[in-house]
Amino acid sequence: MKMTVIGCGYLGATHAACMAELGHEVLGMDSDIDKVHTLNSGKAPFFERDLDDLLAKHTASGQLKFTASYGEAADFADLHFIGVGTPNQPNSDAYDLTHLFDAVRRLAPGLTTPAVVAVKSTVPVGTAPRVAEILRKYAPAGDLIEVAWNPEFLRESFAVDDTLRPDRLVLGFNTTHSRAEAVLRQAFEKIIESGTPTIVTDWATAELAKGAANSYLATKISFINAMAEVCEASGANVAGLADILGHDHRIGRHGMRPGLGFGGGCLPKDLAGFITRADELDAGQAVGILREAAAVNARRRQRVIALAREELGTDLRGKRITVWGAAFKPETDDIRDSPALAVAQTLHDLGATVTVTDPKALDNARKLHPELDYVEDPIAAVDDADLLLHLTEWHHFTTIDPKRLATRTTTPKVIDARGTLNTAQWRDADWITRALGRR
Ligand code: UGA
Repeated sequence: MKMTVIGCGYLGATHAACMAELGHEVLGMDSDIDKVHTLNSGKAPFFERDLDDLLAKHTASGQLKFTASYGEAADFADLHFIGVGTPNQPNSDAYDLTHLFDAVRRLAPGLTTPAVVAVKSTVPVGTAPRVAEILRKYAPAGDLIEVAWNPEFLRESFAVDDTLRPDRLVLGFNTTHSRAEAVLRQAFEKIIESGTPTIVTDWATAELAKGAANSYLATKISFINAMAEVCEASGANVAGLADILGHDHRIGRHGMRPGLGFGGGCLPKDLAGFITRADELDAGQAVGILREAAAVNARRRQRVIALAREELGTDLRGKRITVWGAAFKPETDDIRDSPALAVAQTLHDLGATVTVTDPKALDNARKLHPELDYVEDPIAAVDDADLLLHLTEWHHFTTIDPKRLATRTTTPKVIDARGTLNTAQWRDADWITRALGRR
């Protein structure tokens, strides 16, 4: 089958490469010409496990191409996936749908024959009819363009696997037995045949599915982090508590890693966007639990700052702090709403000299936080530090010998905000250790 993918960020580039892997002929479209050149050379403009291999393989075979032309995309196929970004508005928690509506508006004039537009972007519920309206107005084929809602649930750093082997497929339509359903079932045939639960539903339910899923995941993380606060007050250990809870199959282990809380380009934005949309719909009372999840998440960052001040004194001017981690989570170079960088920046603003290290995200961090210092080697980064903060749990950090590290500083103090350092071993190596979720 031939298809296009409009918008080639984390979601779109991965979707395009995976659709090619499923045997389709795919044209990715992005208005950023530099991104298009990079993708056409078989590389992703960001770090994502396994993605470069797929891009290299399918751009070399000619099965996958990228363009910056909407006209070319409209002519190429009768199935168009849209995966453009939907960030929060600059001064509000509401979604900014400008890129989405702009993409649909620019694709529309080229749609002269019946086609399916399947939107993957995360949106507030009620967006699908607005997309359909734009197509009705600007596409020459008018009513013959069908809109489908196909939310995406991939995690960065598992994006390829989550796309090829998703937990479920969600397809939303505004009529039953639509032609669009047959088209999408054909596009996802291999995934459906492998036994993936496929849920066909209405537009609104499909739109809500993504926001509700991310809201649940965020709330689950905040639940264990709220328990961490109780552990800190009571002398219990949240790691042990999470383990005990995780044995209960009704609770499970996923999303039960306590620590510095959630960040990234999705959970914080979608939680805020979901709450805002519920308020607009006069259902604000129903999302009180989500407001609290956001508040717990913010408090984890403040707690690290408070611990740093307990160790170094309230006046941080002249203090040297090393931060291990810049990415919002391990195995990515994405720093959007990174808890680690938010803490690092606050400490800098309070007067400390902050040195950051990260295996993949330093280039991105340098651009967004030029006031911070950056060192590639996590061991050298600790030289003469008054305090070490472990804020993103890259596996590599856990392999560093605390004995060897202790010689680099005169005041070996560490705060483990992610709970993955072996603090007993660090204490044996003469480090003063503090951790979130423990007294
Ligand atoms: C998230 C969702 O997991 C995906 O299902 C969704 O498709 C995606 O957002 C999206 O909307 O596109 P992602 O942001 O890539 O995916 O990352 P997660 O692995 O969910 O982690 C999010 C944040 O929560 C990270 O900062 C991570 O460190 C934190 N986290 C996660 C915890 O603090 N504890 C946990 O137990 C799990």
